[in-house]
Amino acid sequence: MSTILQLKDVNKGFGEGLKRNEVLADISLDVEEGEFIAILGFSGAGKTTLMSMLAGLEKPDNGEIRFRGEKVEGPSPKRGIVFQNYALMPWLSVQANVCLAVDAVHQQKRRKNARNSLSAMW
Ligand SMILES: Nc1ncnc2c1ncn2[C@@H]1O[C@H](COP(=O)(O)OP(=O)(O)O)[C@@H](O)[C@H]1O
Ligand SMILES: [Mg+2]
Repeated sequence: MSTILQLKDVNKGFGEGLKRNEVLADISLDVEEGEFIAILGFSGAGKTTLMSMLAGLEKPDNGEIRFRGEKVEGPSPKRGIVFQNYALMPWLSVQANVCLAVDAVHQQKRRKNARNSLSAMW
């Protein structure tokens, strides 16, 4: 088995001085290809913060995260995340919301695909 995801001594906190909130301390974890992992914790434990760092939406204060050996330094279509809350852009139409994702992930398959998928729904 090969390691698909690796966290090494990851630390993350928010705020400064007395208001500083150390959320995650020294998180190290190796995830093997094909493994199924669940992260459990009380509300506020840092699950979303951890997922945001895996997605590249937040940066660790210390430590590093590697996906297939490559350092995670930002979002990438190679690493997907399903948000807990709706992640639709309220100012865009249904089609434009679908196109946003399609265009980001499949740069070759353009708006026609989104339009075809939507017309099949109505
Ligand atoms: N962007 C942020 N700025 C300041 N504090 C944050 C931010 N994101 C999360 N936190 C704080 O970090 C802690 C962990 O939050 P979170 O990762 O959302 O926990 P969980 O998903 O386990 O409920 C909470 O105390 C939360 O208030
Ligand atoms: Mg959460």
